[in-house]
Amino acid sequence: MDENSDLFKWEEFMSDKNIVVSREDIAREVARLGQEISRDFKDGRLVVIGILNGAFIFTADLVRKINLPLEIDFIRVKSYGKDSCSSGEIKLTKDVEISVAGKDVLLVEDIIDTGCTLSFLKDFFAKRYANSVSVCTLIDKTERRQKVVEVDYCGLEIKEGFLVGYGLDFAERHRQYADIYHLIDPHGDK
Ligand code: IMP
Ligand code: MG
Repeated sequence: MDENSDLFKWEEFMSDKNIVVSREDIAREVARLGQEISRDFKDGRLVVIGILNGAFIFTADLVRKINLPLEIDFIRVKSYGKDSCSSGEIKLTKDVEISVAGKDVLLVEDIIDTGCTLSFLKDFFAKRYANSVSVCTLIDKTERRQKVVEVDYCGLEIKEGFLVGYGLDFAERHRQYADIYHLIDPHGDK
């Protein structure tokens, strides 16, 4: 897909029929998750860690719905091989800069697919002596799960499909949309 190509039909792509999660639905879920997190961590030392790049918009919106003192940092990982995961296939490309020892880490993810990224990161922060490591995802995509990950805060469950928008990309494109779309054919013309 290349939106500069003549084959790309913006109007068709951006029309309502491809929207999977609207900006209203996103706002409702973000507010609900923020409330739950505010309630659960009121006696803790919360560190919100967004997983780049996909979670940058969700993290920014979520922290503004958490009514608690907190710290924010970001981490970036790269996964090799999308269809299988064994240890070693996830590589850290940007670490956090704050100490998490004794603190309550909340990992913020845009979408969980195989579960490899989050199972790697949960272990990673547990080894750094975090007091607790919890997971918040906007979307839990269950179809291709390979590693069991306990999800503490989940916006929406979606069974299948490739999604873009609200931070989610295909080849670094489409992140900027306010709604989330189903990309019908990532390798096709449309
Ligand atoms: P996994 O759970 O380790 O397989 O990987 C999750 C990561 O894959 C997410 O953080 C996204 O960056 C990416 N990903 C998985 N499914 C989608 C999708 O439908 N659209 C865009 N990115 C996705
Ligand atoms: Mg991601």
